[in-house]
Amino acid sequence: MSTLIQQVIARRIWDSRGRPTVEVDVVLRNGGRGRGVAPAGASRGSREAVDLRDGGGALGGFGVSLALANVNGPIAQCIVGMDAMDQQAVDDALVALDGTPTKSALGGNATIATSLAVLHAAAASAGVPLWRHLAGDRAVRMPLPEIQIFGGGAHAGRRVDIQDFLVMPVGAASFDEAMVMTAEVYRAAGELMDRAGRRCGVADEGGWWPDFKSNEEALEMLTRAIDAAGFRHDQMAISLDVAASEFGGKGRYTLGLEQRSYDTGEWLDVLQGWVARYPILSVEDPVAEDDAEGMRAFTAAVGDRVQVIGDDFLVTDAQLVREAIANKSCNAVLLKPNQAGTVSETRAAMEVARDAQWGRVVSARSGETEDVAIVHLAIGWDAGQLKVGSFARSERMAKWNEALRIEGDIGVQAAYAGYAGRKALPIA
Ligand code: PGA
Ligand code: ZN
Repeated sequence: MSTLIQQVIARRIWDSRGRPTVEVDVVLRNGGRGRGVAPAGASRGSREAVDLRDGGGALGGFGVSLALANVNGPIAQCIVGMDAMDQQAVDDALVALDGTPTKSALGGNATIATSLAVLHAAAASAGVPLWRHLAGDRAVRMPLPEIQIFGGGAHAGRRVDIQDFLVMPVGAASFDEAMVMTAEVYRAAGELMDRAGRRCGVADEGGWWPDFKSNEEALEMLTRAIDAAGFRHDQMAISLDVAASEFGGKGRYTLGLEQRSYDTGEWLDVLQGWVARYPILSVEDPVAEDDAEGMRAFTAAVGDRVQVIGDDFLVTDAQLVREAIANKSCNAVLLKPNQAGTVSETRAAMEVARDAQWGRVVSARSGETEDVAIVHLAIGWDAGQLKVGSFARSERMAKWNEALRIEGDIGVQAAYAGYAGRKALPIA
């Protein structure tokens, strides 16, 4: 039966912020079908693939009719007749058709939805779940999750400056147990906020709204929540996504909440103080994307005991990961397929990181849908870690729940990667 692509159909659907987004269905000659959806970031790296929007007054400028037209027109023309089993060839064709370094012609939202749809169609044709299609005969592990407990930064109206206060259930024996531990901490944090008279709903990714007087107070509250839930700090650790490009750059970091400004060295002292005082095992984008020297200094200072992740700093780009490995700028990469714009480019960034024994965290965006593809990528590629936001709101829970189903399907062989499985350390 032929796995050649017969039809490509784009439609507008709506994401977790009520904004339009691109969904693509790909139909093969053998009847196999696949569906891909583009997520959307709010704190974006300047070098990531362009999220093509219509602009203008309607829908706040977030319309996707240009991106849909690109899929239904030139993209469909280009890939109809290609073999869905050759993902690399399809993605290479998309890159060549676009012809720009950041997918600004077709839109990264158009290309990633198409690329993911082709991948799903190939798995459907093979009659296996996507994670198994990606893994082939290789053994896979269940990823260590990073789960947001308090939102912040661009996801919470900049109520606090730090973007994500997350937990990592490093002491769990399985993904299922990791979810139970997370549920206990999430609930404990909500109760502590309640008692302090500060429970005000949730932020964009489902984490509790950060009604705090300082950024460090959120860390204190998170540590108290872990304690209240009855976990030791070697069982439940903290991960921070500083997303520092949102409040810093050109060597200056200004915390709006505290009304304090730091140079890179002073800011790194603040972060190192937090790492010393709280059970922090992972820090993402500690400095701004333009601060390669700051990244290197932070990694030199704490990289032997803390995972240092590049998100805006690396934008899921294999070449930037290569350079960061050479420069020892960090020791882990966040992998967001829509930052790259195709599945194959995302995979290339993952493989470069893997070969350097770096940590690899497959990640959702703050604007998401019920789509669960990233869970399959994390497991099928054996990335070791998965970050999809908090433990509330169905666009997040759909992903955790999908991982639980896969763990159940794998059965007793479903080893949990845990912290050792991130393969990031030591960097020096
Ligand atoms: P974004 O942020 O999806 O809003 O860009 C997520 C992250 O920084 O990890
Ligand atoms: Zn980030």
